[in-house]
Amino acid sequence: MPHLDTLGRPLRNLRISVTDRCNLRCQYCMPEDEYVWLPREHLLHFEEISSLADVFTELGVDKVRLTGGEPLLRRDLPALVRMLAAKPAIRDLAMTTNGVLLAEQAQALYEAGLHRVSVSLDTLQPERFRRLTRRDDLARALRGIEAVGRAGFKGLKLDSVVMRGTNDDELVDLIEYGKKVSAEVRFIEYMDVGGATLWSMDKVFPRTAILERLEGHYGRIQPVIEESSAPADRFRLPDGTVFGIISSTTAPFCRSCDRSRLTADGMWYLCLYAKDGTDLRGPLRRGASKAELKALIAPIWHKRADRGAEERLALGSRSPLVQIGELRQDPHLEMHTRGG
Ligand code: GTP
Ligand code: 5AD
Ligand code: SF4
Repeated sequence: MPHLDTLGRPLRNLRISVTDRCNLRCQYCMPEDEYVWLPREHLLHFEEISSLADVFTELGVDKVRLTGGEPLLRRDLPALVRMLAAKPAIRDLAMTTNGVLLAEQAQALYEAGLHRVSVSLDTLQPERFRRLTRRDDLARALRGIEAVGRAGFKGLKLDSVVMRGTNDDELVDLIEYGKKVSAEVRFIEYMDVGGATLWSMDKVFPRTAILERLEGHYGRIQPVIEESSAPADRFRLPDGTVFGIISSTTAPFCRSCDRSRLTADGMWYLCLYAKDGTDLRGPLRRGASKAELKALIAPIWHKRADRGAEERLALGSRSPLVQIGELRQDPHLEMHTRGG
């Protein structure tokens, strides 16, 4: 029997953050100059992540996504991929990366058994990339993206956070680039999550505006009819190209949310917007058995009632979810710690 929460949502999709560090400083995620990092000795070893993955798969998880921070900063990531790929219960093993270190690692990750890769890419303009990420790494990120297909991966996705006045003039260019590298582009609404301290509603470029902009260029857009728990709604251009929109801010999808997240130091969070999580590192390091960990995790899922993005929407007037002082006190509130 699947483990269901109070809204009937199954525990299926686990996002595992392997580091809170990142080699970019994207405006919407890490806009500050200074960050409080997780203490190194708290980071889960690969064996610990693998043990927790076993606990979660026994509770019904069959989709795992490796995230960060930037997951490729974690030394020898292919070794972890190999451990997870060997578990038949994980039907889908994916990774989200900014692509900067991907050209060097794509082949090893593919050979280790990773199934899919999504790369975050918000602009194709070098100068804009530099302003947006505070690093001059667009060319490397593009080389990373181009290495994905060569390594053998199918199902590449490109994730673009669209911000009004920053990159909303690049929707067509991103779609065209996606066609060139055989990737499905997904436009993400700018979210007021932890870390997004510069967020304001007027910088959100909503789904309706994205569709209007693309219809203006390509002509009639058709929705792709499908049932799924994925956050993206998919659409088809007249030439058959499929793209997605993740409208977490103006049209959230909490009702079908089957995700939870494990931070690099073993805190388990249910919602992207949740302020509190459950420490799994402590029990694990004290020698808790698999049965004990399952008995800790299952009832928490059964009680889950999170609808973070829907509650934010219902607020009407909004400002960033957490203020900078609060973020400094608890780095777990940061998007780069929680892994998106
Ligand atoms: P697929 O398995 O390929 O469908 O991946 P995915 O779409 O589940 O995962 P991905 O990490 O690529 O999600 C893309 C983006 O959607 C994230 O980076 C976030 O911006 C947003 N997102 C992901 N999960 C959530 C969530 O649980 N809630 C909300 N509100 N937004 C999310
Ligand atoms: N709004 C939307 N998406 C965000 N991400 C991080 N911060 C935000 C935010 N404030 C997600 C995006 C991006 C990835 C690095 O993290 O999907 O592509
Ligand atoms: Fe799931 Fe929370 Fe995101 Fe809603 S806001 S989709 S409940 S993680």
